[in-house]
Amino acid sequence: MKVSNQFWRFDIHVLKRVSFLNCSPRRFLNGPSTKWGLMPALLALASEPPLRFLVKATLKLGYKITPKVFQLASLFDAIPYTRYALGLLTAARYAREAGINGFSAVEFGVAKGNGLLALTRYAALVSQQTGLEIQVAGFDTGSGLPPPQGYRDVIWHYSAGEYAGDPDNLRKRLGGRTQYILGDVAATFPDWLHATNLPLGFVSVDVDFYSSTRAILDPLANIATEKLLPITEFYFDDILCHGVPHCVGELAAVTEFNKLNPSRQFDKEDWIREWRPYGEKLWLQRLYALYCFDPPRITAGSHIWRSALVNRDRCRSLVNVPAAVPGLHYYISRACAECQRSTE
Ligand SMILES: C[S@@+](CC[C@H](N)C(=O)[O-])C[C@H]1O[C@@H](n2cnc3c(N)ncnc32)[C@H](O)[C@@H]1O
Repeated sequence: MKVSNQFWRFDIHVLKRVSFLNCSPRRFLNGPSTKWGLMPALLALASEPPLRFLVKATLKLGYKITPKVFQLASLFDAIPYTRYALGLLTAARYAREAGINGFSAVEFGVAKGNGLLALTRYAALVSQQTGLEIQVAGFDTGSGLPPPQGYRDVIWHYSAGEYAGDPDNLRKRLGGRTQYILGDVAATFPDWLHATNLPLGFVSVDVDFYSSTRAILDPLANIATEKLLPITEFYFDDILCHGVPHCVGELAAVTEFNKLNPSRQFDKEDWIREWRPYGEKLWLQRLYALYCFDPPRITAGSHIWRSALVNRDRCRSLVNVPAAVPGLHYYISRACAECQRSTE
């Protein structure tokens, strides 16, 4: 009997997924561990339909009981604002690879603040689990969308004053843990960026407008390289939406930034979708990375891939890495981290 592939996908993909999960964020962040045993194989099975649905439901409950399951719950989209959890975890991975001890996580467009509260909560968990310092900041007018400045601000969807916040109430809820900066981003962000000590690691852009997104991206064109990770993770909330073509809104600002700045480029984080239990979800396509190619951020044999390049020849486990495996850098980094450990 032929079982529908859509429904039941236990085939060679499961085996490939086992290899991928051997390099899951947790393993990567905490270093290789023999404690995992059969875990990757079980996870690979649990990631397939229809089991993934049950696992997701269990993890939803599990996360309410203990935040220790945070990384697993975010892998199965079992927590609210999973995009922020994944953004933070990916930024943590990039920071680790670059040998940088901390980064800032920023939400542009805060409205009532549910997203900023989630970002604050998850940043504390990622920081606890990785040892990285993560500073969180949120930017908003406080009074909702500013007046649109033309059709590229998607005037058929949005109007001035929508999404007004409640700044006093939000400040109380944030309890001083997180910076909450009021005003138009065109005025507030450049000053903040100059003053901040940690590089930007994860940025969520949820400001709806082309003009507001330009005001966020323009300062990133010329800012010192130390203010960015070599690869900075971005989430653009208002792209790939119904009635919002690529030539307007946040995506138009990204395209223009790429045209104007050849040495700093946004690219889609396509690799992130592969082998995730819910890899088909549209929101995963809203994740981008900003590559900073200016020296000294990414140069041959330095910073981000240095450990991979330096240790490549010594790394016996690389022999076993199949050439066609997606995310090969990941394997190389992990394998070389093992080498480094054994040669220390
Ligand atoms: C869709 S809401 C954000 C929702 C929020 N991220 C959440 O998850 O609840 C968009 C927000 O962007 C803010 N915004 C848009 N353009 C802005 C600008 N130029 N400066 C500051 N805030 C802006 C608006 O005030 C509005 O609160």
